[in-house]
Amino acid sequence: MDLEQTWRWFHQHAELSFKEYETTKEIRRILSSINGVALLDLGLPTGVLAQIRGDQEGPVILLRADIDALPIREQTALGCPSLTEGTMHACGHDWHIVNLLQTAWLLSRKRKEIHGTILLLFQPAEESGGGAKRVVGTGLFTKYPVKRVFGLHIQPQLEAGTIAVCDGAISAAVDRFSITIHGTGCHGAHPEDGLDPIPAACQLAVSLENIVARRIKASDQAVVSVTHLEAGTSWNIIPDTAVLEGTNRTFKPEVRSLIKRCFEEKCQALEAEGYQVELDLKWGTPATDNDPVLTDLVRDEAHAEGLKVAELAGGEMSGEDFSFYQQLVPGSFFHVGVGGSYPLHSPHLEIDRNCLEQSARLLAQVAIRAGSGD
Ligand code: NI
Repeated sequence: MDLEQTWRWFHQHAELSFKEYETTKEIRRILSSINGVALLDLGLPTGVLAQIRGDQEGPVILLRADIDALPIREQTALGCPSLTEGTMHACGHDWHIVNLLQTAWLLSRKRKEIHGTILLLFQPAEESGGGAKRVVGTGLFTKYPVKRVFGLHIQPQLEAGTIAVCDGAISAAVDRFSITIHGTGCHGAHPEDGLDPIPAACQLAVSLENIVARRIKASDQAVVSVTHLEAGTSWNIIPDTAVLEGTNRTFKPEVRSLIKRCFEEKCQALEAEGYQVELDLKWGTPATDNDPVLTDLVRDEAHAEGLKVAELAGGEMSGEDFSFYQQLVPGSFFHVGVGGSYPLHSPHLEIDRNCLEQSARLLAQVAIRAGSGD
């Protein structure tokens, strides 16, 4: 497989979450040309599931790549910009696709060494946060007795030739909230005639962000961000309602629950002042949870492959829906350095494709090792 040409095709055919139809077709076309790879039914309109059976008995190991792009207008100097207007592979999922395709090709030639079955999952819709949940909803994990799961993400801020790992959470739980404060509107000249929701919203915004400073242990990381505050229509009218929106990021389930309780307390305190408060706190993607033994396996194989292994001091505050799989089976998720001048989600992101071959070799070896020894 010509990795550069293959990557260019996927880069040019960037498709948004749950709309990865051409991407899905091309992945299927390439996989069906590899001897020893069998396509399976994923049970979703987009995304691909395939398997490689080893010559020896063993468990089922799942390798996952995400395949969707972002609603970003590409501004790279690459000679092969996205052909889909306003849509760009600005998170490197095009790279992830080619990486897993190449891994499939390598594994297909090593079936003698493989114990058990390796499942290849090309997952739709990581960016919108719904893809992994939908995959779990298909019953994949009951249909196939998956024992371990592995995934990776490119990291431009990490130099090529290095991977970054960490035990426990490598990415945060991503929750969102919306709070509507109902007061009583009145004339701006006579605030005493109503119940102004604006000072309540402002105090609440400050008080919510203080949860991290005053209620969370300093050694536990968390973020509470109010990102949207809206009220009123005119300069002389006190409005009826004010709305706050934002996001919480945490690594530990107990910190996540504590923040939820603090939100409830603070909303109840406003109700004691006469406001009616609607709190809508939605728990989204959970934090990833890297199994230390499987992460050690990744470390070992990376060293064997000549890669440097950087230990992350803590996880990142961004989310990764790979965590839905780790709620079901042990797994490890790691970052692959590709070097670069721009961060993920930048319209200028240009990813080094030279590390693809080595990264695919690493993933193939990780899958083989994870299946042996049982
Ligand atoms: Ni991504």
